[in-house]
Amino acid sequence: MKKTKKKPVSRKDFLRTAGSVALFSALGIPFIASCSDSTGAMNGDMNDNAAGGDSEGITIEGNRVIIDLSTNSGAPLRSSGGWLLIADAQVLAVNVGGNTIRAFTSVCTHQGCDRSWGFSNDLFTCSCHGSQFNTSGGVVRGPATQDLEEFEVEREGDEVTITK
Ligand code: FES
Repeated sequence: MKKTKKKPVSRKDFLRTAGSVALFSALGIPFIASCSDSTGAMNGDMNDNAAGGDSEGITIEGNRVIIDLSTNSGAPLRSSGGWLLIADAQVLAVNVGGNTIRAFTSVCTHQGCDRSWGFSNDLFTCSCHGSQFNTSGGVVRGPATQDLEEFEVEREGDEVTITK
């Protein structure tokens, strides 16, 4: 039996998808996209309102992620309730009000899904099995039992630096 190889998703393709999600969300249209867990196996669909854009404005350097809020990619973090999933860095970031941005690992503490996230009503939801976390990273609904690890965030004007 002939095996077919899955084509890996490039950063550019992922960010293009995230941009499409933002567009669909802005139009109020649910966006369904396939997702994978940390093992790379396909594990279902997600209904995600993550915003992104192109790769301009988000730089990943080792254990640091630098986000330029003046770009389309960083724009969701400018206002309260805005959030980003930066899948290549396994980072979730959210504006919790005013100028305060918090960041967490996107690796779910239940079984490690890292890119199946949604955010609404101040809750992150991992759609792999439905665990929910608040904007402090605390578990509010299982099956996860451990909080998300929080990362250090520094902000200088429009530049946000997350250190893992
Ligand atoms: S991996 Fe997130 S809820 Fe199971």
